[in-house]
Amino acid sequence: MGMSVTISVATEQDAEQIFRLQYLCFQSEAALYGNYRIDPLVQTLDSVRAEVASDCVFVARLGEEVVGSVRGSVTEDGAASIGKLCVHPRLQGHGIGARLLRAAESALAEERGAKKFRLSAGHRSEVSLRLYRRLGYEAAGTSQGADGVPMVVLEKQAPASTYATTA
Ligand SMILES: CC(C)(COP(=O)(O)OP(=O)(O)OC[C@H]1O[C@@H](n2cnc3c(N)ncnc32)[C@H](O)[C@@H]1OP(=O)(O)O)[C@@H](O)C(=O)NCCC(=O)NCCS
Repeated sequence: MGMSVTISVATEQDAEQIFRLQYLCFQSEAALYGNYRIDPLVQTLDSVRAEVASDCVFVARLGEEVVGSVRGSVTEDGAASIGKLCVHPRLQGHGIGARLLRAAESALAEERGAKKFRLSAGHRSEVSLRLYRRLGYEAAGTSQGADGVPMVVLEKQAPASTYATTA
């Protein structure tokens, strides 16, 4: 289809586009749960900026336009928490979500020492749940977000090869 979408680390300049993109992409999730107070819709631009500065954030770009994003950070237990995966509605279903997720996993394992990846999806979010299972995630429990939406928590071990040393 003649499009070339590239995946790269997000820069400070991308924060505003990520902020707008997640607002657009998560409308479908809000509609699915009848809840327009879900975290990606109420997050402030300043908070997105702070995450771009501190977390492992990737964007998918089509020319100058940010058309996808994901972020993750390593938590106290050594697992990386990955979230806010989103792809512009007009470009969904072409593997961009999977590419973003794999980029985040590699960086979190190789640069931040993550031993495990953890993410969560709304219990009725079939597209996301299918994508995560296809990439090797397995249900590890449930949780309830501050917004009240029941979530499925999924986990996957980081592949051993990603933290092999040069010894
Ligand atoms: C979830 C989301 C990020 C997925 O992004 P995406 O780019 O569409 O994801 P992918 O294209 O990698 O995978 C989606 C489907 O497209 C299919 N696909 C992947 N590459 C493809 C290709 N080249 N051609 C055709 N189909 C393809 C995949 O097989 C997958 O379908 P399946 O899981 O039924 O097999 C996107 O739907 C989104 O932004 N949703 C709204 C926000 C959201 O819910 N985020 C997740 C919160 S938990």
